[in-house]
Amino acid sequence: MLKFQLMQMMHYIIRPMEYGDIPQVAQIDREAFPGEWVFRSQSAYKRDLDNPSVRYIAACMKREGVESGGRVVQRLLWFKRLFSHECHLDSSEYIVGFSGFWIMMREAHLIAIGVRDGYRRLGIGEGLLIATIGLAQVVNANIATLEVRASNEIAQALYKKYGFQVVGRRPRYYSSDGEDAIIMSTDNITSTSFQASFQQLRKAHAQRHPEPLAQVR
Ligand SMILES: CC(C)(COP(=O)(O)OP(=O)(O)OC[C@H]1O[C@@H](n2cnc3c(N)ncnc32)[C@H](O)[C@@H]1OP(=O)(O)O)[C@@H](O)C(=O)NCCC(=O)NCCS
Repeated sequence: MLKFQLMQMMHYIIRPMEYGDIPQVAQIDREAFPGEWVFRSQSAYKRDLDNPSVRYIAACMKREGVESGGRVVQRLLWFKRLFSHECHLDSSEYIVGFSGFWIMMREAHLIAIGVRDGYRRLGIGEGLLIATIGLAQVVNANIATLEVRASNEIAQALYKKYGFQVVGRRPRYYSSDGEDAIIMSTDNITSTSFQASFQQLRKAHAQRHPEPLAQVR
C-alpha cells in the first residue's frame, strides 16, 4: 500500500479497487472523461475487477472530515491490505482518483488515470502512475503502453515525465468526436536505466508529498 500526504491535513492511500468503489469511480470517470465514460459502465468495471488480466487501483481518503463539496479531509485512515482483491464495502472511503491497466503477454496497457476535479495538481495522478508502473512490474510486465487524446497535453506531460514516448497515432480513435489518439510507450520497465530514473522520480514525488508518519493511526 502506498501512502501520500497531499498537504498538512489531507492524506490518501492507494489500494486495489473494490466492488464498493465502483459508483464513486464511475462518477470520477464521467467527470474526467466526458463522452467516453459510457464505455466503462459500472457493469464493465465489475467485469474488469473479476478479470485476472486487469488491475485497477484507487486513491482514497477517509470520508470523515470531507465537506459536502468533497474538499477538506481532516482525518486519516491507514488500510491494512496491500494489493489483495478481497471485497469489502466501506462508505467512509472517499475515492479521489483511480487508474487501471490490462496485461497481455508482458505488456501493461493503461486503460485510464483520472483524478477528481478539485483534487488535481496535488500529486495524486503522479502517485497513481507510480503505483501503476510498480504494479505492472509486479505482474511481470516489461513495457507500458497507452492511448491518449492528441489534445490532452496535461496527461501527455505526466506520461512523458515517466519515460513514455510517442510511438504512433490512431486517427479518429475517439468515436465521440473523432479526435486522434497518440500512442505512447515506455522502454523496458525492468531495465536498469528505466528503474534508475523511475526510482529517482518516485523519490522526488515522495519528498514533495511526504508520508505523515507522526499522524498514522
Ligand atoms: C491527467 C491527470 C490524471 C493528472 O492528475 P493530477 O493529480 O492533477 O497530476 P499531478 O498533480 O500528479 O501532476 C503530475 C504531473 O502531471 C503533469 N501535469 C498535471 N497537471 C498539469 C497541468 N495543469 N499542466 C501541465 N502539466 C500538468 C505534470 O507533468 C505534473 O508534474 P509536475 O508537478 O512535476 O509538473 C488529471 O489531470 C486528470 O484526471 N485529467 C482528466 C483525465 C485524463 O485526462 N486522464 C489521462 C488520460 S488517460
